[in-house]
Amino acid sequence: MRTMTLRDVDAVLAIEQAVQAYPWTRGNFTDALDHGYLCCVDDTGGEISGYAILMPVLDEAELLNIGVAAAQQRKGVGRAMLLEMLDLACKKNLLRVFLEVRSSNVAALALYRSAGFGEIGLRRGYYRNVDGSEDAITMACDLVGELDG
Ligand SMILES: CC(C)(COP(=O)(O)OP(=O)(O)OC[C@H]1O[C@@H](n2cnc3c(N)ncnc32)[C@H](O)[C@@H]1OP(=O)(O)O)[C@@H](O)C(=O)NCCC(=O)NCCS
Repeated sequence: MRTMTLRDVDAVLAIEQAVQAYPWTRGNFTDALDHGYLCCVDDTGGEISGYAILMPVLDEAELLNIGVAAAQQRKGVGRAMLLEMLDLACKKNLLRVFLEVRSSNVAALALYRSAGFGEIGLRRGYYRNVDGSEDAITMACDLVGELDG
């Protein structure tokens, strides 16, 4: 995994538009880069297969987005990226990572649970969907800060 740059945005956006029902816009990705969020891509196979974006806020962070190209899903890319993002957060002495996920997103829920996230709340009707709206599940993962920096 490496840091995302502006040059990666076309490839990242193409994946995002293919795998998300309500995809981020180009502006969402460039804003994330401009704001200095932790934006990473996985290009292990020579081309970008996934991306993840973490927004630090004081001593906590929020995972804003994570996506894996359809052809590369279920091969461990998502888990590897997520664990690396948690490791990065830990190295920055962040204490907790939050996220919100659609209650219908079985794959993402299983991924987050397997990486150590637990459910801490429910936001009713938070996301729009074809039926109108659906709930968001709020999850959190406590990190063990690095004592020696
Ligand atoms: C969620 C997502 C990032 C997972 O990426 P991935 O590379 O396919 O996930 P991994 O191969 O690392 O799988 C890790 C674990 O997640 C769970 N998981 C992944 N895909 C799953 C699926 N289709 N159904 C059920 N569980 C699934 C499993 O627990 C899996 O572990 P296992 O393979 O040992 O059973 C991917 O499905 C994706 O890009 N989805 C669309 C975008 C999205 O929903 N992003 C999250 C919300 S912003």
